Amino acid sequence: MILTNEVQASQQATQFDLAAYLAERQAQVEAALDRSLQVIYPERIYEAMRYSLMAGGKRLRPILCLATCELSGGTPEMATPTACALEMIHTMSLIHDDLPAMDNDDYRRGKLTNHKVYGEDIAILAGDGLLAYAFEHVAIETKNVDPERILKVVAVLGRAVGAAGLVGGQVVDLECEGKCDVSLETLNFIHNHKTAALLEASVTSGAILAGASDSELQRLSRYAQHIGLAFQIVDDILDITATQEELGKTAGKDLQAQKATYPSIWGLEQSREQARNLVSAAKAELMDFGEAAKPLMAIADYITARKH
Ligand code: IPE
Ligand code: IPE
Ligand code: MG
Ligand code: MG
Ligand code: MG
Repeated sequence: MILTNEVQASQQATQFDLAAYLAERQAQVEAALDRSLQVIYPERIYEAMRYSLMAGGKRLRPILCLATCELSGGTPEMATPTACALEMIHTMSLIHDDLPAMDNDDYRRGKLTNHKVYGEDIAILAGDGLLAYAFEHVAIETKNVDPERILKVVAVLGRAVGAAGLVGGQVVDLECEGKCDVSLETLNFIHNHKTAALLEASVTSGAILAGASDSELQRLSRYAQHIGLAFQIVDDILDITATQEELGKTAGKDLQAQKATYPSIWGLEQSREQARNLVSAAKAELMDFGEAAKPLMAIADYITARKH
């Protein structure tokens, strides 16, 4: 019987215990994040940074970074500072995304948002502090890696979070609020920049640290772009279909704020179909890596299966 790439991929994924893998990696990431940031004077800012950084979350970006470092022959130690930095950058983006000037959200990761607890002034500074510390952490703490690779990772992270990436996506996201004529091109720009760019950096940075070849990096980039877009489509679907308890953040906010989303333009079923197609395309990029790509295959499936 001839199996398609997609079927082979999903069979491989089902033979892999993703729940155990994610639990083990999450525990490693929690411990590394906890060690990375101590509370010193002025305590209030460090407490605010730790409040959001240590509030849980799926830790998907650090886990992707550790997974691709391993796939490309590196050790977890090589990628741990970068994995932590990715979570610091992501947490910054959530603190700022929740501010009254942006999405104005009261809950995040099952807790009150940073500005609700510490005030808007400290929340802005906590995001700034996490963003700056992420780069310091990579530069100071990465050991046993060629400095040229570390420099490349710093550039990749900077590009992913700046105006060419996440910041640019957030700007267009805000500009499109309340507009009913947002084109597919613009919607894809928003998603690819505000969400997929940092996921792509998570995937490529681990591989860069391990010394992956250009062709491996290109395949991993394409994998990440597909799961990145799928990830935001699923986030938008869950905003409509999941509860606040499941999400740890207020549900139904996108409709209320008239955000440009896949479901608002095509409805839920077509959005689910699009996410599934993107996950299949992502998995097809991993075929040449063989068995070693099982974690990334399973993570791709998890993007559409997740409930929070
Ligand atoms: C939420 O990211 C923001 C988006 C980019 C959609 P996650 O869904 O990864 O949030 P946490 O880290 O698990 O809280
Ligand atoms: C996430 O978009 C983008 C970033 C935080 C960079 P959303 O605004 O949809 O994320 P949630 O739903 O608040 O987590
Ligand atoms: Mg937003
Ligand atoms: Mg938001
Ligand atoms: Mg959302």
